[in-house]
Amino acid sequence: MLASRNVLEPINVKALPKLKGKIVVITGANSGIGKETARLIAKTECKLILGCRRELEGLATQEEIKSSSGNDLIIYKHLDLSSFKSVFTFAEEVLQLAATEDFELHCLLNNAGIFYDKHELTEDGFNISLQVNYLGLVYLTLLLLPKLKESSSSRIINVTSEAHRCVSQPHIDEFFSSDYFSPNKYDPIPVYGETKLYVMLSALHLSKVLEETNVSVSCVDPGNVATNILRHFKKYNTLITRFLIWLRFKSAVKAAEEVTCLIFHPHLKENSGKVWKSLEEENPSSLATSEELAKKLWSQTLTVLPKINSK
Ligand SMILES: NC(=O)c1ccc[n+]([C@@H]2O[C@H](COP(=O)([O-])OP(=O)(O)OC[C@H]3O[C@@H](n4cnc5c(N)ncnc54)[C@H](OP(=O)(O)O)[C@@H]3O)[C@@H](O)[C@H]2O)c1
Repeated sequence: MLASRNVLEPINVKALPKLKGKIVVITGANSGIGKETARLIAKTECKLILGCRRELEGLATQEEIKSSSGNDLIIYKHLDLSSFKSVFTFAEEVLQLAATEDFELHCLLNNAGIFYDKHELTEDGFNISLQVNYLGLVYLTLLLLPKLKESSSSRIINVTSEAHRCVSQPHIDEFFSSDYFSPNKYDPIPVYGETKLYVMLSALHLSKVLEETNVSVSCVDPGNVATNILRHFKKYNTLITRFLIWLRFKSAVKAAEEVTCLIFHPHLKENSGKVWKSLEEENPSSLATSEELAKKLWSQTLTVLPKINSK
């Protein structure tokens, strides 16, 4: 039940309802929050699709979770969010898996993300953080949307971050151009923050577009979590910071329990478009709640994504 200040009642993750005949897709499922969420969800007898960038880690996670949960319907599929081609192939595979046995697509958990200290260009010509954290996420969401719409009560959940607050001035007009980023004067924190702001704005916009459907769109800010997120960030990835993070930050298991509650919560639809943190409605920055900005970003985004043929 929802209390008056929009707090979601926790769900007992040790006794989750069964999701037989339903599919849950988790991106970045071989590590951190994604992997721990996959472990919890696997027990619900759903078909769980693990979208992972590295094959060995993806297959190892698939086998590990299959044997710990006893659920044979755990499937690794290759997904590299830095490549539109890979996202397209992954989405086709998910749709095929759903069609074969007439499974419903219950949830797309857009969890994968990078915190990268360098400006690199992807094969599609975008800054890598922008494409992995934002453009790839939106493209995947749009490709799976028709199937999500067919389901009785489906949900898109995007993992975002407090870092969105470090953006005081968004750069929507320049951010999609590789010329904007200077490799020598690259400041990764605002770039990461801006990609997460975009994730929130796109969720806000999509929640409005999908108002009349069964699909809800939510964001979750997991807080500071002890994971591998700093591994590409040499400045902070030291023994001492790793120790402090382990000591002070929330565990990936705890963060996964909160995400799992959203995957099951009966009150997400009437709260579509909101951001949750520790199961409480979060008050994001004023930029992240601007419908005007969200609309502008959405239309710019559609101009750079590959064309989507809706069947
Ligand atoms: N940890 C925190 O304090 C914190 C705080 C706020 C928000 N978040 C967000 O939480 C989410 C999960 O991160 P985490 O903390 O669990 O970190 P993590 O352990 O590093 O997990 C990130 C996952 O994303 C995957 N990934 C990276 N690049 C990818 C790509 N090109 N294509 C597909 N998958 C890719 C990683 O795969 P590889 O293992 O192959 O790299 C990994 O599975 C991220 O969106 C992050 O921004 C984390």
